[in-house]
Amino acid sequence: MTIWIEKINNAASLEELENLRIETLGKKGVITSEFAKMKSVPAEEKKAFAENLNKQKAQVNEAIEAKKIILEKEALNQKLASEKIDVTKFNNELSCGATHPVVETMDRIITYFQNLNFAVEEGPLVEDDFHNFEALNLPKYHPARDMQDTFYNKDYTLLRTHTSPVQIRTMLNQSTPIRMIAPGTVFRRDFDITHTPMFHQIEALVVDEADKISFANLKHVLVEFLHHMFGDVDVRFRPSFFPFTEPSAEVDISCVFCKGDGCRVCSQTGWLEVLGCGVVDENVFKAVGYENKSGYAFGLGVERFAMLIHNIGDLRSLFESDTRLIGQFK
Ligand code: PHE
Repeated sequence: MTIWIEKINNAASLEELENLRIETLGKKGVITSEFAKMKSVPAEEKKAFAENLNKQKAQVNEAIEAKKIILEKEALNQKLASEKIDVTKFNNELSCGATHPVVETMDRIITYFQNLNFAVEEGPLVEDDFHNFEALNLPKYHPARDMQDTFYNKDYTLLRTHTSPVQIRTMLNQSTPIRMIAPGTVFRRDFDITHTPMFHQIEALVVDEADKISFANLKHVLVEFLHHMFGDVDVRFRPSFFPFTEPSAEVDISCVFCKGDGCRVCSQTGWLEVLGCGVVDENVFKAVGYENKSGYAFGLGVERFAMLIHNIGDLRSLFESDTRLIGQFK
């Protein structure tokens, strides 16, 4: 039996130990088959024979159990060692975020105008009627208010519908010359593939003494800016109406969309509207107490620019928080 005990003590794995258990104590094991021999042992020797066998069986069992504890402990230590995690190890597969296309476009536009020495101004998102409408030559009950479907609050404040109130705030606080842009969030009651109730605009205002600022200055700045943003496009000024500018224009760029095998015109007319602008209306200067001034202003929708630059079809997809969209801008 010592040979089996020795084998058990030398077992290298739990599997080997189990095999040894089967070979000794299993149904056909060497000890089990010794018990079968009881029948042929003479009666007077049976007791001693059985006692001896039981002793051997107990010894083997004990050896197996003892070895099992050792091997199980070894197996556990091995598992712990192989699954050890170094929490201080640097994971260079960290996934980085990306700048949202609206923010990126906004930053590009702001940087462009900062380089031309425009100051960046801000105003509140919750505005009053005076700054958002009245001072901008939009008196109460004026039908032009319908151009901007508005979220009104109970206390006669409203969510600003455009960044133009920042023009008013800046003129009320500063004297000429003024050369500013106002980037920011605006709100309108609108929702379809080209409108969301919250979007972003960048406003610009330049004011100086009478006759110093003209439509020609406005035109030059905008043509240069649009070439910077969209490359070699044609720029067209189309007469339009805004209560706060006179004359007013909407600005279109020629729109050719190139991808893969060729280019196609991307709107029915071949032109895409990108912003509104004009020469500051006298009534706006009156509302802020300015006399003998001249100026121009323009306002643009940042999402519209981002959509054109990145060829995004549905404006709403910019605000759905789907990481597949942002993932494309890494
Ligand atoms: N505030 C106008 C709008 O939101 C845009 C604009 C700004 C037009 C300044 C002219 C001058 O539609």
